[in-house]
Amino acid sequence: MHIFLTGASTGIGNAIAHEFDRYFKGEAFFSLSSRKKELLENLANSLNSKSAVYAADLAEPTVAEMTLDKAVAEHGPVDLLINNAGVQNINHFIAIQNDDAEKMFKLNYITPVRLMRKVLPQMLKRNSGTVVNIASIGGITPTPFMSEYCASKAALAAVTVALAGEYKNSKIHFLTVYPGPVKTAMAEYADERYEKDAMNYVPFGTAESLAKEICVAIEKKKTKVIYPAIYRTAELFRELSVWVTAQMAPEPKRT
Ligand SMILES: NC(=O)c1ccc[n+]([C@@H]2O[C@H](COP(=O)([O-])OP(=O)(O)OC[C@H]3O[C@@H](n4cnc5c(N)ncnc54)[C@H](OP(=O)(O)O)[C@@H]3O)[C@@H](O)[C@H]2O)c1
Repeated sequence: MHIFLTGASTGIGNAIAHEFDRYFKGEAFFSLSSRKKELLENLANSLNSKSAVYAADLAEPTVAEMTLDKAVAEHGPVDLLINNAGVQNINHFIAIQNDDAEKMFKLNYITPVRLMRKVLPQMLKRNSGTVVNIASIGGITPTPFMSEYCASKAALAAVTVALAGEYKNSKIHFLTVYPGPVKTAMAEYADERYEKDAMNYVPFGTAESLAKEICVAIEKKKTKVIYPAIYRTAELFRELSVWVTAQMAPEPKRT
């Protein structure tokens, strides 16, 4: 079981590595990727499973493709691809620099798509494999001041759902994950960006329990995870959720 996991150094990716290490009882092989080599090495040393570290800037899609190619050449075809690396940009739309927004879109959408296009031919040949894409609840309820982040996550969710239909006659499993707020470095960044203690009033989950839900969803071949569970209302009552979010979304600090 070769697992290629992006954004493994911290947060949700780190928790997924630990959870899957336990689930596969140390029998899986992890290719761990993100930019911070030292954090990846610390993670690799803490796992019971064998692993390799691939430090790379995955916001460069061609670098991401070369990284995956290297992992496949060294450790065989990928059985489980987890596109988790992502960044958020909270700001007034007109204050956002094009370069920053486009880099975010590459990391959050273009790279996951390129990696899927790399692994799918092999998965189809073997008629097995799993692709997990970490989108966001913001892909269901687009949030003011995170417009392009939400757009990137909506795009990632849409392509995953469409691919599940496209390959419905194969045994390849596609899982779309829609996290709401989860206590990680990304949530700390959001906390810093707002004027008030806005983040104190929203329900939060933890990376560890999200990782467990993802593991169960793979085992049960579910097609989506919305976490924490309270955010399922965003999908059930989408229009209401969009309206409430538009009224309540806090303003970030001016930069
Ligand atoms: N936390 C939340 O509330 C929340 C909610 C919805 C969705 N999500 C999604 O969950 C995923 C994980 O986020 P998190 O909450 O765990 O935040 P996090 O702790 O900030 O993790 C982000 C991960 O992405 C990696 N990364 C960032 N830029 C990169 C780049 N240019 N190249 C390679 N790797 C890069 C980081 O590693 P390096 O710094 O080592 O590169 C890190 O491992 C993201 O896709 C995020 O959008 C999070």
